[in-house]
Amino acid sequence: MPHIKNHKHSKLLSNIEDTPELMMSRKNDHIRICKTEKIESDGEPFSQFHFIPEALPEINFNDLDLTQKFLNQSFAMPLLVTGMTGGVEKGQEINEAIALAAEKFNIPMGLGSQKMLIKNSKFKKLFDVRKIAPNLFVIGNIGAVSLNYGITLEDIKRLVDDLELGAFAIHLNALQECIQPEGERNFSQLLAKIEKIARNLHVPVIIKEVGSGISSETYQKLVSAGVAAVDVGGKGGTSWSAIEGLRSDKEGQRLGDLFKNWGLSTDDSLLCCSRLKSDLKYNVPLIATGGIRNGLQVAKAVALGASMVGVGLPLFKAAVSPLTGETPLESVERELNFFRKSLSITMFCAGAHNLTQLNSRIVQEVP
Ligand SMILES: Cc1cc2nc3c(=O)[nH]c(=O)nc-3n(C[C@H](O)[C@H](O)[C@H](O)COP(=O)(O)O)c2cc1C
Repeated sequence: MPHIKNHKHSKLLSNIEDTPELMMSRKNDHIRICKTEKIESDGEPFSQFHFIPEALPEINFNDLDLTQKFLNQSFAMPLLVTGMTGGVEKGQEINEAIALAAEKFNIPMGLGSQKMLIKNSKFKKLFDVRKIAPNLFVIGNIGAVSLNYGITLEDIKRLVDDLELGAFAIHLNALQECIQPEGERNFSQLLAKIEKIARNLHVPVIIKEVGSGISSETYQKLVSAGVAAVDVGGKGGTSWSAIEGLRSDKEGQRLGDLFKNWGLSTDDSLLCCSRLKSDLKYNVPLIATGGIRNGLQVAKAVALGASMVGVGLPLFKAAVSPLTGETPLESVERELNFFRKSLSITMFCAGAHNLTQLNSRIVQEVP
């Protein structure tokens, strides 16, 4: 199995074939690093926004309506678990705990990239959460750049049927591929390939950034390409520059540090895309992901135009580091409960009976 740290960084390595063994080694590195290291970029999403408190809510707390419609489905709250792992035994354990909890809470769950499963069907059991969560809305995942390295519409169609997926996410991760020692960096002509998938796949296609944000211009291009939803995946949470830097040699670490705070923050990216969405009356929903750590931030994102809010690292950490005496499932459920409770308290104390009413209660701090 190749050991990345012993290789010279960049140009040489971009020619290495990304084999299942290399992918497994990378996934294990990601799990280890995300569990033990500080890998978040700076900034706290939506810290400049506040809700006007409602001292007299005139709502029964038990009647709050947190439900949200997304991709023609109804979910119990506007939260989704972003695609993280799979493909290795530890990843399977993490996915299973999250899948059981997500099904119980009636929220969608993304799986980490299934590139290795496309390459070899023997890896199916490492991603197959359907067998334990028959009613879960599961979102598949692949990197857009893989479309330039042999992955086709037919491969994705097969994957959707095989794993019984409800939607399919294609991630944009230019920065990660630059810092990743074995990164794939040919991003040319990807929009046309994304469009082909979006217009021909039999389930909705979501495009997601993984930490650098999406500008309104790119959102506009993606809307024109026929995608069903866009996850702005902004700066403020998990930083792939930091993570890949920690898998690299000294030069890679310097690069990883340098670009750790690259990109549009989750709030800036959401605000500019959401403004364009309402100006041009687009009906392509936005997902806000990147550094969302509680239900108060979920409420702010929804008030500012997100249909759904993605959470990654906190649920990953809950699954890999349960409290003493707790199972991974109980730990993920505890974290999801915290999100649900803090969202409910925000809505109640802002006088919002449902998610739509949050919008009229949010204000921005004047600098
Ligand atoms: C351990 C781990 C693995 C991830 N793997 C993937 C992946 O395979 N595909 C993907 O699109 N995003 C992946 N992500 C990114 C998340 O989906 C999400 O965009 C990112 O973590 C930002 O959210 P956060 O700040 O709440 O963690 C991963 C995140 C983590 C923590």
